[in-house]
Amino acid sequence: MKAIVVHSEADKPVLKWETVADIGYEPHEVLVNVRATAVNRADLSQARGHYPPPPGASEILGLEMAGEIAAIGDAVDGWAIGDRVCALLPGGGYAEQAAAPADMLVRMPDDWSFITGAAVMEVWLTAFSNLFMEGDLKPDETILIHAGASGVGTSAIQLARHIGAAVYVTAGSERKLARCRELGASLAVNYKEADFSTAVMETSGGRGVDLILDPVGGPYLLQNLRVLRAGGRLVNIGLLGGTKGEMDMGLVLGKSLRLIGSRLRSKPLSQKIGITRDFEKTFWPLLVSGVLKPEIDSVYSITEARAAHEYVARNQNLGKVILKLDG
Ligand SMILES: NC(=O)c1ccc[n+]([C@@H]2O[C@H](COP(=O)([O-])OP(=O)(O)OC[C@H]3O[C@@H](n4cnc5c(N)ncnc54)[C@H](OP(=O)(O)O)[C@@H]3O)[C@@H](O)[C@H]2O)c1
Repeated sequence: MKAIVVHSEADKPVLKWETVADIGYEPHEVLVNVRATAVNRADLSQARGHYPPPPGASEILGLEMAGEIAAIGDAVDGWAIGDRVCALLPGGGYAEQAAAPADMLVRMPDDWSFITGAAVMEVWLTAFSNLFMEGDLKPDETILIHAGASGVGTSAIQLARHIGAAVYVTAGSERKLARCRELGASLAVNYKEADFSTAVMETSGGRGVDLILDPVGGPYLLQNLRVLRAGGRLVNIGLLGGTKGEMDMGLVLGKSLRLIGSRLRSKPLSQKIGITRDFEKTFWPLLVSGVLKPEIDSVYSITEARAAHEYVARNQNLGKVILKLDG
């Protein structure tokens, strides 16, 4: 089969669509002809050698896919060759074929393109699990979402608004802030021009927020702790700004705060299956009916994966960047 192979030229990753060894599948798995996958920030780090796949996972990039079932393991029930599915993967999505446990599959609606299917699993499951399972967001609460116009951010805004929570966001351009407002954010702060903590405290009448979804990390730590209310939760999902920050334990103890780090990719399979099935029961029907919508920025051919990575690395995307395979 063909897959993206990472080469290095002058310390920069070069992604090439090349012939690699065919893959197999286990009795509890299906083999899928991948029709579309998507770029995630983890792929950029992995291509630079900073984020190795978890033990046992494919070395090939790609944390999600949409496609058609090509072969079925002996222990799998309920699926047929040709079924249109999408799934989270621990790796291996940037390839003509990927193997996935049958329990991780979600059936795509007939009227969805594979491009839509490839835009959902990684960012919506990340937003869902971190807002509700890690962050325990409630309808009468306020959430601050950093990188609000990211794939995860645009999903998180919609989920939080859907249950009735108030949403504040940060983002780095007027175009991105405007889209976050359209999706339901009542406060959208350009973090390049203003101190988000001042804006959050002013808008909330000094009360702050209950939950923060933070992919930025170290540089935001102290401001995040300052704007959390008593009993607030900080859920860190990324380190876009770096690992080191200033910490004031007086704020943590004084307000009974909780600091949570969470990584979807490294969770045990049983937990990922649980998250997928819980999402399928709760919010998936709202995606199928169009109440919630994946935010798709652009579609590249898989052969242009390098250009797609460079586009995402320049922070130009608003929502998902999809990689489409021929056929
Ligand atoms: N822990 C997990 O399980 C998990 C799973 C999925 C994703 N993630 C993480 O969640 C984050 C979002 O992922 P995504 O795929 O949705 O990303 P994305 O769509 O590529 O968007 C990321 C955005 O973050 C903003 N950004 C970049 N560097 C920044 C910095 N130093 N300070 C503030 N903002 C910055 C940029 O937007 P602006 O133009 O607004 O600056 C950029 O476009 C990433 O950090 C990713 O690694 C974590």
